[in-house]
Amino acid sequence: MSARLDWTARAAGPVHGESGVPGDKSVSHRAVMLAGIAEGISHVHGFLEGEDTRATASIMQRLGVRIDAPAPGERIVHGVGMHGLRGSPAPLDCGNAGTGMRLLAGLLAGQAFDSTLIGDASLSRRPMGRVCDPLRSMGARIETAPGALPPLHLHGGHSLHAVDYAPPMASAQVKSAVLLAGLYAKGTTVVREVHPTRDYTERMLEAFGWPVRYAPGQVELAPGGHLQACEIEVPGDFSSASFLVLAACIVPGSDLVLRGVGLNPRRTGLIEVLTLMGADIRIEHRRQMAGEPIADLGIRHAPLRGVDVPECHVSDMIDEFPALFIAAAAAEGTTRVRGAAELRVKESDRIAAMAGGLRAMGVEVHETPDGADITGRPGGWSGATIDSRADHRIAMSFAVAASRASAPVHILDCAAVDTSFPGFADLVNGLGLKLSRDD
Ligand code: S3P
Repeated sequence: MSARLDWTARAAGPVHGESGVPGDKSVSHRAVMLAGIAEGISHVHGFLEGEDTRATASIMQRLGVRIDAPAPGERIVHGVGMHGLRGSPAPLDCGNAGTGMRLLAGLLAGQAFDSTLIGDASLSRRPMGRVCDPLRSMGARIETAPGALPPLHLHGGHSLHAVDYAPPMASAQVKSAVLLAGLYAKGTTVVREVHPTRDYTERMLEAFGWPVRYAPGQVELAPGGHLQACEIEVPGDFSSASFLVLAACIVPGSDLVLRGVGLNPRRTGLIEVLTLMGADIRIEHRRQMAGEPIADLGIRHAPLRGVDVPECHVSDMIDEFPALFIAAAAAEGTTRVRGAAELRVKESDRIAAMAGGLRAMGVEVHETPDGADITGRPGGWSGATIDSRADHRIAMSFAVAASRASAPVHILDCAAVDTSFPGFADLVNGLGLKLSRDD
């Protein structure tokens, strides 16, 4: 990650204008992985130029895949075929990316060579047993640091067999790791989910021509398929868009249009919940982009009211809870979040990070093991110093929250924003927020 960065954000707004958003992080990771092991040359348009996805692309290059970057957001991936990767003697550095490490564990578990996956301080604290356990049950040999933490040492040369697996937690990363290992396994790999998660791996395998049957909650991957290079158009990242949606929802007088936002139904729980809270969000010009639903979002400020977040939406908005907590703080009444214990093992413990930050701004928050009760203060909040815990989404949430604060908000340790949303500060300042870096 780049050098330490702190921000000061000030009261601002309204938020006005039109904007696009950076490419989808989940799709960008998967695009360079699958294109790398496909036959032929794939073109990726709209690739996210974030640190997380660039780390994954660098790893694929280290594994012998030529990837050209003729222009920002463009990648030309010269696939080496299913068995064309070669081992890297040096550890493979996933940076801050849980998605990168967990999906690569699946991809590398069935290779003929050994690999070591490492990550930064935050990633080195994140649980990897959730992918190592099912991969081991497929025949992989993996060693971890104590507590099933990174680094992951994957021993090559072990043949894999398919499993029928029901992950104990809702996780697209776990599902995807098993599916990617399943490409190299004997038999049909099945993953069953109680709470369906984002299905980009399934959709992309299909786009590359591998036989896969899927519906919400179940996926079956046939063995012995073939990946054929293709063109991938990466939609705008809904999770990045969510910070801009939040800004327009909470700052009086705002009127914002976001173009080309990915609206995969397993990502858009925040729209459902904000709408329940009274938000004014229009979905316009719905269209398909390379098999993914996208649309433009029109957001106008409207008063919000607290709600009980329906648990059925939790996995469809798992990355959007930092934004939801700020919306809840702007609402009249109490918002209750439950069934979201996964938030405690993201880039930071997001329940604790959001609760701590909001309390510092004068908002009443009661934490529970799997959620929180947030009592809104629609009149606005006090200034504060917030520790973002080097978590990109915590930093961006409080940068937006500051627009309603009565004094400046200092946000510490914000460099991780570049992992998912490079150019965030310039973009939000252009729309009306007041965010500056502390020198
Ligand atoms: C992701 C899945 C989610 C999400 C992450 C991206 C993916 O993680 O939080 O940002 O691309 O598969 P989990 O699988 O841990 O829920």
